Amino acid sequence: MTEPPQQNDSGHKAWSGRFAEPVSDLVKRYTASVSFDRRMALQDIRGSLAHARMLARQSIISAQDLADIERGMEQIHGEVARDEFVWNLDDEDVHLNIEKRLTALVGDAGKRLHTGRSRNDQVATDIRLWLRDAIDEIVELIAGFQRNLLDLAETHAATPLPGFTHLQVAQPVTFGHHLLAYYEMTRRDTARFADCRHRLNQLPLGAAALAGTSFAIDRGYVAKELGFDGVCENSLDAVSDRDFAIEFCACCSLTMTHLSRLSEELILWMNPAVGFIDLADRFCTGSSIMPQKKNPDVPELVRGKTGRVVGSLVALLTLMKGQPLAYNKDNQEDKEPLFDAADTVRDTLTIYADMITGISVKPEAMRAALAKGYATATDLADYLVKKGMPFRDAHEVVARAVRAAEAAEVDLADLTLAQMQAFSALIGPDVFDVLTVEGSLAARNHVGGTAPAQVRAAIARARSALGKTT
Ligand code: ARG
Repeated sequence: MTEPPQQNDSGHKAWSGRFAEPVSDLVKRYTASVSFDRRMALQDIRGSLAHARMLARQSIISAQDLADIERGMEQIHGEVARDEFVWNLDDEDVHLNIEKRLTALVGDAGKRLHTGRSRNDQVATDIRLWLRDAIDEIVELIAGFQRNLLDLAETHAATPLPGFTHLQVAQPVTFGHHLLAYYEMTRRDTARFADCRHRLNQLPLGAAALAGTSFAIDRGYVAKELGFDGVCENSLDAVSDRDFAIEFCACCSLTMTHLSRLSEELILWMNPAVGFIDLADRFCTGSSIMPQKKNPDVPELVRGKTGRVVGSLVALLTLMKGQPLAYNKDNQEDKEPLFDAADTVRDTLTIYADMITGISVKPEAMRAALAKGYATATDLADYLVKKGMPFRDAHEVVARAVRAAEAAEVDLADLTLAQMQAFSALIGPDVFDVLTVEGSLAARNHVGGTAPAQVRAAIARARSALGKTT
């Protein structure tokens, strides 16, 4: 028989009955999470109230206990909302801080709250509740970004821009069409977030520490109270996996990656050597040494912060990969990357929506770049094909015409009809219709094409889809 361990006087913890010596201050700080998980305080209170109501309905606690818990939680809610709650490192995490305060306020009822549950299913529930709100907010912010993007796309539904492949002029597109590519990317982002929300919306509570509980709980009731679609079907899985957090960070990473690509384009377009756009001063900074500089700091930071969000994704994947079932304290490390990813995406989308309205477009510079790039060469090849020439031969003929135009330092449309006919007798005076930028754009008149009419139709479809979802 071993002696029961001595109760230590200092820093009595919810679990310290089992321990013979207190932890050092460093270990206390090392193992505590209250400095960051207090962000889930309101979710924690919400989850506890639903749990307590279920316990009372099931006659596991008394109606009086429930009334005490509700009264105490209402006060704590107010303290947290007013930022008056006193967080204590000795109480380790958000859950124990709130439980301790509750017990101080209402006595034994506070001590009964934890019946039939564990911090393991409690924290898994809190994160899911927190993420649900974060996703709803992010989806709204994406919609705001998209609305401004569609407005700019509409203004420039017919503004010619050199479309690039390999960062070289390829074919004319409209600036509106180019922007709509980002609408499509972010539309899929929204769908991904919605999908992630759908999958995470299952209640872990009831799993308790790992095996479930011996009390006659009603998980379905708690799920309904908290707006979950159902309950996690396996208690071990419920307390231990964080795949929903990983999915969320993957969604965030893709959204940031899309915005990072757009940022790279904004940076390129506002480079004085390109000059396609200018960005409002409020998104740029100057140089402390070079007076002429206007640096696109915000797009550069979006590009940079994308690395940070991808880092969160990798952190969570790495956190998970070696964990045996069920709960391990490793999981406490899930929150900071998760919160940081959510904060970064929220801030980025908020700023980006405004930045879109701060873009001024320089159509002359775009057109000049098109003229220099022989952007309608493919249209000439298509023209010859329509006159009966096999495409490979047409490609060859046009390549020779481009070389001649290059040598003469003119655009294809500047060659005379006679000069053109030297390359192929199939060429007639109607060739000039296809060599103009407007002709090239208008010809791509099918769903997904860059013809201004198609761009306008795509914007209308996007607007009605946006109207439906928000
Ligand atoms: N702060 C902990 C976390 O974030 C709560 C769960 C702790 N559970 C435990 N058995 N130590 O994961």
